[in-house]
Amino acid sequence: MAADWAKHDMAFLDGRRLRRPRAAAWSRAMVRETSLSTADLIWPIFVIDGQNERTAIKTMPGVERLSIDLAVAAAKAARDAGIPAMALFPNTPGHMRSEGGEEAFNPGNLMCRALAAIKSAVPDIGLIADVALDEYSSDGQDGLVRDGHVLNDETIAVMVQSALVQAKAGADIIAPSDMMDGRVFAIRQALDQSGFDHVQIMSYAAKYASCFYGPFREAVGTGARLKGDKRTYQMDFANSDEAMREIAQDIDEGADSIMVKPGLPYLDIVRRAKDNFNVPIYAYQVSGEYAMIEFASAAGSFDRQAAMVESLTAFKRAGCDGVLSYFALEAARLLNE
Ligand code: PBG
Repeated sequence: MAADWAKHDMAFLDGRRLRRPRAAAWSRAMVRETSLSTADLIWPIFVIDGQNERTAIKTMPGVERLSIDLAVAAAKAARDAGIPAMALFPNTPGHMRSEGGEEAFNPGNLMCRALAAIKSAVPDIGLIADVALDEYSSDGQDGLVRDGHVLNDETIAVMVQSALVQAKAGADIIAPSDMMDGRVFAIRQALDQSGFDHVQIMSYAAKYASCFYGPFREAVGTGARLKGDKRTYQMDFANSDEAMREIAQDIDEGADSIMVKPGLPYLDIVRRAKDNFNVPIYAYQVSGEYAMIEFASAAGSFDRQAAMVESLTAFKRAGCDGVLSYFALEAARLLNE
């Protein structure tokens, strides 16, 4: 008989029923191990020149490049929603790009003007400035290129100048995203020697050579320029031990916090980093991850908002102290409801 069979077969559970605390919403809330809050959300935005100008990014539906005045308004909205910091990325027009990426250390470049405008209008939001040459160079590589090679030490010299103009413009956190060896130390030293010892460094420490950066490259205008790939400096996605060496070295060089990037496919790296290092750890839910959720939900594969909340919470569960996400503003507003 069915009832007898069930009784017999379930005896091994001996009363241990894991479903018990899941039975009601109040109980699920009580046993929930991690939670997402607005303070966990860092919002990356793309800036362009112009006035009251917003341009669409085809591969990132819903995200727009913003002129500085609109970026200031966005910063106010972010601050009001409880977002602690924003990360800025400039779309430098082609005619201002060069092989040497000189625009990177022009104190009047788009990035510096955006930093200064936001800092003066919204002083209480943290500003994270990306440092890498791909946003300023004509070839879309993160470093200087000679004979087809991306140069390490020569690139660092340019990045240091770039970091200094950004700090001067109002950057609170310098975030080198280039993966050159030794750049954290060089930037720390230069900041300290120039009176910017209060400026933090958030290092893109474990940054993988990933296809998921595709939409970002459209957003900053490097996609069509980039020849080849970034595999001689960004990490091989098959590696994990190496990520621990990268993180250890950047902490040693003076990084205040570190980042793992991309995010969702790399949560194993986040967890290892959390178990091994006592610094704040961030992950970047990159453009391609954003696009996957947007396009899949638009096709009816799943609910967009549910995917947003589930993915962001997964970063927290894995051990992140915060997440850079294009969903940040929307997620923060949802959390405030
Ligand atoms: C540039 C940089 C990239 C991203 C952040 N900084 C692209 C790259 O390395 O090619 C990617 C962010 C995203 O995909 O959302 N150094």
